[in-house]
Amino acid sequence: GLAGSVLSYRSAFGTSLPERGSSRSFTPFSVPMPIPPVLRPHAVHGDTDLYRLAVRQAQVEILPGTTTPVLGYGGDFVGPTILASSGRKVGIVFDNSLDRATNVHLHGGHVAAASDGHPMDLIQPDGSKYYEYENRQQGATLWYHDHSHGTEAEHVYRGLSGFYLIQDPEEKHLRLPCGSYDVPIMLRDALFDDDANMVYGDPTQRPTVLVNGAHQPYFRVARRKYRLRFLNAATERRFALNLDGVPMTKIGSDGGLLASPVPVTEHDLSAGERVEFVIDFGQHPIGTQLLLADGTLPILRFDVVADSVDHSRLPDRLRALPPLPRPRVNREITLSFDMSGDPVGLVNGKPFDPARVDFRVRRGDTEIWNVSNGDGEHGFHHNFHLHLEQFEVLDRDGAPPWESDRGLKDTIYVPPGSSARLKTRFTDYLGKYVYHCHFLEHSAVGMMAQFEVVR
Ligand code: C2O
Ligand code: CU
Repeated sequence: GLAGSVLSYRSAFGTSLPERGSSRSFTPFSVPMPIPPVLRPHAVHGDTDLYRLAVRQAQVEILPGTTTPVLGYGGDFVGPTILASSGRKVGIVFDNSLDRATNVHLHGGHVAAASDGHPMDLIQPDGSKYYEYENRQQGATLWYHDHSHGTEAEHVYRGLSGFYLIQDPEEKHLRLPCGSYDVPIMLRDALFDDDANMVYGDPTQRPTVLVNGAHQPYFRVARRKYRLRFLNAATERRFALNLDGVPMTKIGSDGGLLASPVPVTEHDLSAGERVEFVIDFGQHPIGTQLLLADGTLPILRFDVVADSVDHSRLPDRLRALPPLPRPRVNREITLSFDMSGDPVGLVNGKPFDPARVDFRVRRGDTEIWNVSNGDGEHGFHHNFHLHLEQFEVLDRDGAPPWESDRGLKDTIYVPPGSSARLKTRFTDYLGKYVYHCHFLEHSAVGMMAQFEVVR
């Protein structure tokens, strides 16, 4: 498999890996794609929308006719979508109803350290925590997920993730498809046993791809443009998305809109990454079925079922990237495994130690980080994620960045033995933040480090 997994997995849920996957019979494309519900604020105080969400165990129907125990925000397997606006705050209390500690990280969010969901900043069972997100950033497809150190991989696998979409007024003026034509789509993988339990084990042995929590669903579309926001919420997988050669117009990535639309027929999406497309189903007659595939594996079928008027637009110019000042600091970051015993994840040769600050960043500075995968020999794949700021990918091993690097990014795939140079500016918030491999089975065993933004 792509992830080159070497770890041995012990589940806190006590499940073990079965001999083979489920042999349950299944008719593909027989269920509609669920759309995660939008969370309603329980109160509005001035410039802050207030929410409350329980983190709890639930039994849900994932495979038709069966129930699966999961962990869910509000009991939903794909957490409810939080709709935020640039310049308005979101305040949200998470109540931990689990029998174990959890916490919440807003992935891609420009967030104060106290609300960032640092891996050691936990909500104990029966405890609650208030997180405040200022949303001083442009429109973007973000997501929230568990980040409890050592258990993040299993908790996210079991269902603790959801969309957090920031909308902004400037973006509204572009008149891209909106409302029910702006659709978040969460992709992830899983292994089910014969009783429809999700088995937490080797990440390379997860044959079932779930699309907004459903296996091979269909999605009925009208003959018009749609904005589709894809998130890879798998803990350790890459998707090679394609629409069987039909062009998709890429308009956004992790940090929001691109400078201008880019036509693509294939797009890689690594764990934690987001990509947004506009797809014009008006090009196809009623009755057309289009398969979205991961490589050659079909994962979602679009059924063109109705005519529609379409007042949305796809402008040639979207939004220019903010210019960055001249960098003052260069850093070397290397992700690797220590394979001398049980695998231990390392950043610059050291496993995560919450008592250690790996380096200090001066607030306001622009920096270049050269991020390397130090496991060329072993062939292990890594996937770099930075908290707090979005970055630009300057180059990869001296060559131009990939299509999947375009725009503002917070997560990138780093193949064995390769490196990528990133440029970012630490604009305002002070405090400790982590950076890590976003193959969560790697961060769970130590492939994480922290920096501190100081005055
Ligand atoms: Cu998506 Cu540090 O995480
Ligand atoms: Cu890794």
